[in-house]
Amino acid sequence: MEDVELLKREAGITACKFVKTGMRVGLGTGSTVKYTVIELGRMIKDDGLEIVGVPTSLATEKLALEVGIPLVELSDVSSLDIVIDGADEFDPQFQLIKGGGAALLREKIVAQESSTMVVVADDRKRVETLGAFPLPIEITPFASESTIRKLTNLLDCRVNCRMSGDNPVITDNGNMIADAHCGPSIIDPIEMERNILMIAGVVQVGLFNNMCDAVILAGSNGVEEIINPKGRL
Ligand code: A5P
Repeated sequence: MEDVELLKREAGITACKFVKTGMRVGLGTGSTVKYTVIELGRMIKDDGLEIVGVPTSLATEKLALEVGIPLVELSDVSSLDIVIDGADEFDPQFQLIKGGGAALLREKIVAQESSTMVVVADDRKRVETLGAFPLPIEITPFASESTIRKLTNLLDCRVNCRMSGDNPVITDNGNMIADAHCGPSIIDPIEMERNILMIAGVVQVGLFNNMCDAVILAGSNGVEEIINPKGRL
């Protein structure tokens, strides 16, 4: 396994210590949290862990079923005890950019329903100021070009429709993704989130503000557990 893959695995597995029997667990999406999902499956099988999961994407749903995690619909539970998810960037205030895997809408809905959010990441994701990673924004296919124009004017940067070959990427919800190349300049992500959500064609933006309670960060010196002092853990 490559170094970075080992780091992702370490972070993903370490986060499982926050999961206890009886919990309703949000299962994030991406190449880091996939190790959390696999480990939770192992804990169910080998350690008698009893949980139910709510996946944040069709890909995670498939993996969770494969590893034997019982799933429920979010609408069938009043709330979730925890969500564990990856991130594309996090800043010193624990604000996040997410959506590199195009799952931001379901991820944000699940995070909003969770009492705690633990992020799993390798140390390339830690930044001083958000925005080097292009900000993912889920938009409606209807009038997508006009929405992208409005986003370009608002953010004053290049905004691209995310493509897969010749076709736009379509999310699990039938929408499209616009990526905003802001550069590392997002000093007020809360105001930016508010402004972006004012545009009618925007479904959701991958800024996750005031949601993250801890980051399990794997680096070459081992795994660091960074607890948000303003968080719920
Ligand atoms: C999915 O839409 C994203 O929010 C992912 O959680 C994020 O991109 C992190 O993914 P990796 O762990 O694959 O880097």
